[in-house]
Amino acid sequence: MKIIHTIEEMSNFSKKTHLKAQTIGFVPTMGALHEGHLSLIRQARKENDIVVVSIFVNPIQFGQKEDYRRYPRNLKLDAQACRKEDVDIIFCPDREEMYPANYKTYVTVRDLSDVLCGQFRPGHFQGVATVVAKLFHIINPDIAYFGQKDAQQSIIIKKMVEDLKFAVKIKIIPTIREKDGLALSSRNAYLHKGQRRDALVLYQALTLAKNLIRQGKIDSSEVIGKMKELINKKKSANIQYVAIVDPKDLLPVDKIRDKVLVALSVWIGKTRLIDNIIIDRKT
Ligand code: PAJ
Repeated sequence: MKIIHTIEEMSNFSKKTHLKAQTIGFVPTMGALHEGHLSLIRQARKENDIVVVSIFVNPIQFGQKEDYRRYPRNLKLDAQACRKEDVDIIFCPDREEMYPANYKTYVTVRDLSDVLCGQFRPGHFQGVATVVAKLFHIINPDIAYFGQKDAQQSIIIKKMVEDLKFAVKIKIIPTIREKDGLALSSRNAYLHKGQRRDALVLYQALTLAKNLIRQGKIDSSEVIGKMKELINKKKSANIQYVAIVDPKDLLPVDKIRDKVLVALSVWIGKTRLIDNIIIDRKT
């Protein structure tokens, strides 16, 4: 396994790989790797000759008051985990390599970036789309892997690839959860013991929604109301949003007829957690 820091070396490696007619599977991450990331890496390993994992805590996707500084960073542990999964390349550029002082170009995926998490994190998805577009240019992967855990992010990247005609296939991998249902996230490390217990309520609320919809409830407002009631019982929980939307355009659905994305964002103490599930009434 090789650790590459510069764009030049990374894109030269990628060119050489394609000249040899080998395929590249790419997993973009911000590090602090856990089983969620590893499931993306394992899928990439199965389907490609070469696996590239990027580790870059992308400053432009964090708001002024967000956790850019305290975001967990541990390249040594991450490299160990990658080596175990037989990753070929870790690409970890530094901030100046990706955004030199005169950097000016940003990618905006309209509308999809302004709803759900986007309402509360202005500029966040522009930061994500920009860094992913740049990484795609540098690495030129055949397939790139994203998690359902960040459903809105995955939908935005798919749209960017479709609109800008990137020659990469996007694969979305199911959310990996702890035994009790909490979705794995690098930010779970911020939770104290009592908060960790309360954090389970995100998954419990999603499960409640699934049960209500399966029982025949079709009014989104009723389902959302019940979810909120459950979440509000937890002392450290503070709801940012609970939404039932169409997974294609992320617009609210009033009456649940077929496939919906149920998504939520909840503060647990000072940690903002997100989770979601797709529910298909017809299956
Ligand atoms: P990060 O939060 O490190 O996540 C990297 C990838 O892992 C994302 O595609 C995310 O959806 C996926 N992932 C995280 N938790 C998961 C879980 N529990 N199960 C399955 N997949 C999971 O998302 C980012 O980084 C950044 O925004 C990035 C795309 C790298 C751009 O900076």
